[in-house]
Amino acid sequence: MPETALLPATMTPQQAREELERLAAEIAHHNAAYYRNDAPEISDAEYDALRRRYDAIVAQHPEAEPENSAAQDVGAAPDTAFGKHIHLVPMLSLDNVFDREDFEGFISRATRFLGMDQKATEQLIFVGEPKIDGLSISLTYEKGRFMRGTTRGDGTEGEDVTANLRTLKDLPLRLSGSYPDLIEIRGEVFLSKKHFLELNAAQEAANKRLFANPRNAAAGSLRQLDPKITAQRPLSLFAYALGFCSEKISRSHWAYLEQLKEWGFPVNPLSRQIKGVEDAEAFFAEVSQSRAELAYDIDGVVYKIDDLALQERLGFAGRAPRWAIAWKFPAEQAITRLKEIEIQVGRTGALTPVAHLEPVNVGGVLVMRATLHNEDEIARKDVRPGDTVFIQRAGDVIPQVLGVAPSTDGTPRLAPYHFPDHCPVCGAAAVRPEGEAVRRCTGGLTCPAQVVERLIHFVSRQAFDIEGLGDRSIREFHDIGLILTPGDIFRLHEHAADIEKRDGWGEQSVQKLLQAIESRRTISLSRFIYALGIRRIGASNARLLARHYGTYENWFSQMQAAAIIGSDARLELGSITGIGTTTAEDLVAFVAEEHNLQTLADLRANLTITEETAASEGALAGKTIVFTGTLHTMTRPEAKATAERMGAKVSDSVSKKTDLVVLGEKAGSKAKKAVELGLQTMDEAEWNAFCSEQE
Ligand code: IVH
Repeated sequence: MPETALLPATMTPQQAREELERLAAEIAHHNAAYYRNDAPEISDAEYDALRRRYDAIVAQHPEAEPENSAAQDVGAAPDTAFGKHIHLVPMLSLDNVFDREDFEGFISRATRFLGMDQKATEQLIFVGEPKIDGLSISLTYEKGRFMRGTTRGDGTEGEDVTANLRTLKDLPLRLSGSYPDLIEIRGEVFLSKKHFLELNAAQEAANKRLFANPRNAAAGSLRQLDPKITAQRPLSLFAYALGFCSEKISRSHWAYLEQLKEWGFPVNPLSRQIKGVEDAEAFFAEVSQSRAELAYDIDGVVYKIDDLALQERLGFAGRAPRWAIAWKFPAEQAITRLKEIEIQVGRTGALTPVAHLEPVNVGGVLVMRATLHNEDEIARKDVRPGDTVFIQRAGDVIPQVLGVAPSTDGTPRLAPYHFPDHCPVCGAAAVRPEGEAVRRCTGGLTCPAQVVERLIHFVSRQAFDIEGLGDRSIREFHDIGLILTPGDIFRLHEHAADIEKRDGWGEQSVQKLLQAIESRRTISLSRFIYALGIRRIGASNARLLARHYGTYENWFSQMQAAAIIGSDARLELGSITGIGTTTAEDLVAFVAEEHNLQTLADLRANLTITEETAASEGALAGKTIVFTGTLHTMTRPEAKATAERMGAKVSDSVSKKTDLVVLGEKAGSKAKKAVELGLQTMDEAEWNAFCSEQE
């Protein structure tokens, strides 16, 4: 028989004690990951389930509750304890590769973007640096004086930890030599392996929570409310990147690292200039070799294109630069037992299988859950509850089940797993359209799982971003019937008195929440569209739509008009670069659904949706540009990215609405049409001159 979770009522006191201890340790780990490190490893729903199980067992066995249990903590340091600060240049992340082939893929993507030939590609210089497993920070210096230090936060806005950073002995409070007026210097704060062990020994002696790894310990130490505590933790620093700078300071990253050293920053001594893939691979092997002897944890090697002019041309794609990559150390694997397969239901009704595992330590992290991807993967690997399975964890990605390991104790396996054809939450049929990997619940908005997930999405960071209205409160308000639709959020004030009486709420917290909701009654169109949770409309597609249609009324009426295939509205929707046929269908289907129309009307009546201004700062804000013909000094994606950086929309077809047509060589019918319509045109040289004036 597979071991399923015991019911609290049937547990012996010994079993209850053991399970509570295990749960408390897990909750402590996830508290640290979430509150201290801004890097949750499990979803809030999973976290809630842990706490619920913990509470259920305590309710039955109060005597078995461990002392100093992390589950009693209110949730580590509150978010608002530190001031917030917006980075002058966003702090982004890095894309990962795990082998030479993928590394080559990174190089060819970058060089194709730049239009480089084979020879130039082989000559391309990189800087290789160990990837420090700490937490990134941004340090602002004005006229050479350290003014402010912030954590990464969500990349746009971080927490002000200046007072704590001042206690780092590695951090120069004044820059030596000459320096720009204003500069943001980026780097990693970390705790050495030795100091991590010492810190945990001291924590243990004082009966305090242990840190799961040096990174969590560094994050926890930096986010102390009392700088005196941070001062006792020997945190170190390596500087490795540039944020904003009021003037140009170097032409290469390597020269920038030299400059950092002159100013007094520690720069990783293993950093090296590298030419070509061969050297890069050798450097990776070298760093891997020395990993164990290093005084601090690293999790790979970062490669950055050295030439800063090239870096600038390459820019960013999504959350990561096109000019840098993290080549991570191989994934860590382990073997454990699969206890059960849980089917979760997401916002769009997708049924996702999650493996619940016998907890196992994989490279310093306790893993209890892993993804099984989808129905076909379970069948292909023939994974069954009770099996012993190989699992793998690589970097920040969700652990995955690789396959079944041979059983060692000869116990017979259970029957093959049958993926449910009904939604486990609402019981509606779950269907899988032909050619798709995912089975979906057909319950739509009558399925509580979908409703709750949609509401959670609605208030999430990139959507309405309502402080104080997280997953937990949404579930709570949904369960008691106060928030059943998005519009209900804006009527929550009518229930203030009831909420105040609830456990965990008081007059102040309710007032704060209501204020946060009020402040979001005015919302930008792109956030609004994203919040709706339409399939395939993530934040960047929402921005594209918002920029293109400008106002809510225009967007909404155009989406309705686009229902007719072949209509002008449908053609226009299809011409937006980035919006494909299926995405267009999803949009049209969304506004055709009665429930959604009600939701939209309700929200419209309660909100002010502002015209999109995200791109209004660029020199081409609001302009529509078409590139046509062959370009010689840049590739098409590069030209497009440059135009978009200046706030333009790039379209594929010329119409009355086009503001500018850039004519490459052999520009054909589009050039003719541009002339006929009397549109402004530029040749490639003029375009380049225009760009260099602007950027
Ligand atoms: S460069 C725009 N260099 O890795 C990219 N990052 O996975 C700036 N990290 O958030 C980052 N060592 O916290 C860079 N030598 C290094 C690094 C490094 C560690 C961290 C950093 C970043 C994360 C991305």
